[in-house]
Amino acid sequence: MNGERRTVHVRPADLLLDTLRDRLGLTGAKPGCRNGDCGTCTVIVDGMPMKSCLMLAIEAAGRAVVTIEGLKDSPVQRAFVERFAFQCGYCTPGFIMNIHALAQHHPDADETTVRDWLQSNICRCTGYAEIREAVASVMNGKRD
Ligand code: FES
Ligand code: FES
Repeated sequence: MNGERRTVHVRPADLLLDTLRDRLGLTGAKPGCRNGDCGTCTVIVDGMPMKSCLMLAIEAAGRAVVTIEGLKDSPVQRAFVERFAFQCGYCTPGFIMNIHALAQHHPDADETTVRDWLQSNICRCTGYAEIREAVASVMNGKRD
């Protein structure tokens, strides 16, 4: 978990989202739709963005999980701050996790790829222009 080994006892039906928030004190992943539609619960598991409301906690056993708490001062986080790519901020952790994974897997992504990749996240404040600017600033090796 964010580079540390964490042990927690869970029930078979416990969701990763609830375990992160209620058992491990990692409240950055937010509950939104709890249905796989909004992306605000996104975390990275073994390098891939996953919606933690759709994943059981036991499925994360032995795997590398990164939450927004593990991306402190990351290039994507800094880009969101500098571009004011948020309004209420509720969706922001999920966007940052997903864009971080995008930059890792597709650093040369074109606009179409970025648009497709971000379809899994919804911002109810509709701050998409600033979010797209923040993404553009971290892609193509523009930041370390
Ligand atoms: S809360 Fe997980 S996708 Fe909406
Ligand atoms: S900034 Fe409010 S939901 Fe995205």
